[in-house]
Order: sequence, then structure tokens, then C-alpha cells
Amino acid sequence: MFFPGEIWRDTAGQPIQAHGGGVLYAEGTYYWFGENKDKDTIYGRVDVVGVSCYSSQDLYHWQNEGVVLPAVLDDPKHDLYPRNVAERPKVIYNAHTKTYVMWLHVDSPDYLYARTGIAVSERPNGPYRYVGSIRPAGADSRDMTLFQDDDGSAYVISSSEMNRNLTIARLTPDYLQTTDQFIKALGKPDAHQGREAPAVFKHQGRYYLISSGCTGWDPNIAEWAVADTMLGEWKTMGDPCTGKDAEITYHAQSTFVLPVTGRPNAYIFMADRWNRHDLRDSRYVWLPLTFVDGAPQITWHDSWDLSVFSR
Ligand code: DGJ
Repeated sequence: MFFPGEIWRDTAGQPIQAHGGGVLYAEGTYYWFGENKDKDTIYGRVDVVGVSCYSSQDLYHWQNEGVVLPAVLDDPKHDLYPRNVAERPKVIYNAHTKTYVMWLHVDSPDYLYARTGIAVSERPNGPYRYVGSIRPAGADSRDMTLFQDDDGSAYVISSSEMNRNLTIARLTPDYLQTTDQFIKALGKPDAHQGREAPAVFKHQGRYYLISSGCTGWDPNIAEWAVADTMLGEWKTMGDPCTGKDAEITYHAQSTFVLPVTGRPNAYIFMADRWNRHDLRDSRYVWLPLTFVDGAPQITWHDSWDLSVFSR
């Protein structure tokens, strides 16, 4: 079963370190990538350890595949030097180049470097080679995610312009750069209403984006938006969460929405319950997301399993 907010251990009994994560489904196996934060928290941050990968056949039991993109310890100028920031890694597979491509938020400790790092591997469970970092479509980029469409086109969605805009840029066919196809999807005039923590998924031909507000490690209200095309007009719709603590996303912040393979109205909403005093002990909040009257709806469960989607 899933136990949202409880310590989640891997198959070796160790707490899973995959924060700000995302899941890739490849050849019958799920791969969960996320931030390894297994260091002491000092002034609200931990040094970069790297990107962890875990594999699973059933979504409940996860085997540690190790740190597949480690911090670079011997080069202070490297994006992945421990004193920097490496967050929210996401991986997609490029069928043309037969390469697994990871994008992640890389930053300086003051979050002003604001770039997206790119790493590649021939195997889903790495190791990944760091290619370098870019600013998607030339703009600053902080919280981010990737979305791959059914036709193979892929997009990076990132908090930009000091988080005032959530922008979407189409990637080049090799997924290693952005193209000039670029929109400002969720711009708001007040910076305090900016968006973070984007998670994008597709349901019955339409595109859905769940994001959070910007309150550091503290939780806030989630919002969903919908569009007919990735680079089209996005319309904000409201809070997808229901029930107790919905208005603070159950003390958590979105990171990914995982379509459950083989079930057309079954998604897992993945979120992080950050512990700002001990970030390594931040918990995972995975909850069922289904469509009710055409709108995505997330419901709290103390524990649940995939059979909730059959009810
Ligand atoms: C909120 C972001 O969503 C997190 O990924 C992280 O960057 C924190 N801010 C840092 O305060």
C-alpha cells in the first residue's frame, strides 16, 4: 500500500531519497528519479549529493539503483559542486537517439544562477553524463518539469522571470536544447502569485498542469490549469485537492503526475512534504487523482492501493 506522509523505505530497508522527483516507465519497469538530500540541513539547504534512481515493477516496492548523477566534488566551478543546488530531476526517453535524457534545476545557493542542467545515459538506471546547463529560451529557470507527448515532442515547463511566469518551451528533436517555440503559460502580474512545482499530464487529448504558489519550503494551495495544446492558451481552474488540508495540498507540494499504465482514468499525484529543518526527512505524499465531471480531483487517504481506481 501507499502511506502518504510516512517514512517510505526501499527494498533494502533504507528511507527513499528521491525528493522533487518524477517517474519514467521504460520496458515494464518504473524508474523514480529524485533529489538525494541525505546530508545535514544547514540554513534551510543541503549540499548537493546527486540524483537518485529507484526501480519498481509495482509502484509499491522500490529498489535503490544508486546515485545516477552524483555531485562533482573536485571542481568548484561545476554546476553539480556540492555547495550549489540540484533539484526536481525528470527523465524522458528519446527513441530517435536511443538516449535517456535528464533535465534538472541547477542553481547557485542564492538561486540566482537559475539554469537547467541536462544529462544523458544509454540506460534508464544510468550512470548519467552531465552535458551542461542552459537557460530555456534564454530565460531564467527554477522549478521545472518535462513533458513528453504521444507524438514524441517534448517540453520543458519552468518557473521563470523570478517565478512571475510559468513558461513552456518545446525541445529540439534530440531533447538537448530548447527551440524558439516558447510561451508564457501562467503569468501573473504580482510576483507573490507566481507558480512553482509544475506537474504536467495529458488526459483524453487535453493537457493539465498542476502547480503550487511560491512559499519556499512551506506548503500552499495547489492550482490546476488546462489547455488544448501544450503551446496554446492555458486557463487556470482552481484547487484540485479536496477534503481536510486541501488548501495546503495536505502539507505538501506537487512534483509529478504519474499516469497508471493501462488505466485510462487513473493517475498518481506525487508531492513532497518538505521538512525545512531536516530536508532528508521530507516525506512523499502520493495520492490518487481521477477525473470527476471533467475536472481532476485529488483525495486524501491515510493508506491506499491501486484498487481505489476500480471502485
Ligand atoms: C520551493 C521549490 O518548489 C523547491 O523545489 C525548492 O526550490 C524550495 N522552494 C527552496 O526554498
